[in-house]
Amino acid sequence: MKTGQERKNYWNEKYYEYWKSRVDEAGGEVDESAIIQGDSKTEDDSVYEEVFEAHPFLKGNLLEVGCAWGRMFRVYQQYGVEIHGVDISKAMIDAAKKIYTDDPQIKSIQESEAEKVPFDDAFFDNLSCLATFDATFQKETLREFLRVLKMGGNLYLTGKGADYPADDQQAMDAEIGARGKGHPNFFTDVPRMVDLLQKNGHRIQASYYYPRRGDFGRNHYETQIPDKFYEWFLVIQKGSDQIDFDDFADSHSNTFRQTQK
Ligand SMILES: C[S@@+](CC[C@H](N)C(=O)[O-])C[C@H]1O[C@@H](n2cnc3c(N)ncnc32)[C@H](O)[C@@H]1O
Repeated sequence: MKTGQERKNYWNEKYYEYWKSRVDEAGGEVDESAIIQGDSKTEDDSVYEEVFEAHPFLKGNLLEVGCAWGRMFRVYQQYGVEIHGVDISKAMIDAAKKIYTDDPQIKSIQESEAEKVPFDDAFFDNLSCLATFDATFQKETLREFLRVLKMGGNLYLTGKGADYPADDQQAMDAEIGARGKGHPNFFTDVPRMVDLLQKNGHRIQASYYYPRRGDFGRNHYETQIPDKFYEWFLVIQKGSDQIDFDDFADSHSNTFRQTQK
């Protein structure tokens, strides 16, 4: 697994162009991506907006980790929060700074790793991390998010599940393809993470589970945890200062590992 400068370099101009093209083609009637043949389109902003609408941000400020070029900043602005953004990628942060120069609601935009963000303890009322947690060292990242959140603060977090349906070929292709490209990729044991969060005194306010690859883009979800699912979106409320977690993520899904037996 890439670490340090090698990991940082992965998220370069080329990745910026790639992710921009995937976001640009999101939405509409057609389901299939024109960029990666055989794959589904990624989610458009409305999928996130629906969750934010149902579970609004607390008054005050918000940190987005993995903010890219500030794709979601316009959405956060509608809620009147002060916005801070960090991303590991220089290309992403340069683009965000260009778009949001002199915007008084955007308080800071900085290069930073999710696992160690440059803010004091209990600084934020809200933290969002969308389509990014799966690229990070999740135990360290979750600890860091809870460190910088205020007591009662809201965490909006998405990721990929460790147990997706064995017949979800798009998910399997994506996992194998990502590994081939050296894309940092971790799969979350969600029941374990939820159990650890609750044992540490934190609360799960809302859960969305997207069973198959492409369901996130289609906004097709279940709210009760299914046996197998590909993506998830949780709204978590910080309920204590405890961040005593074991590992709950792996670089290979259980679904993939079971195909190797
Ligand atoms: C798939 S993009 C998602 C961007 C944005 N959140 C969105 O939904 O459009 C993943 C983003 O996470 C950033 N990223 C990857 N690993 C990171 C890390 N360890 N710390 C901070 N940002 C990271 C990448 O540079 C990239 O901008």
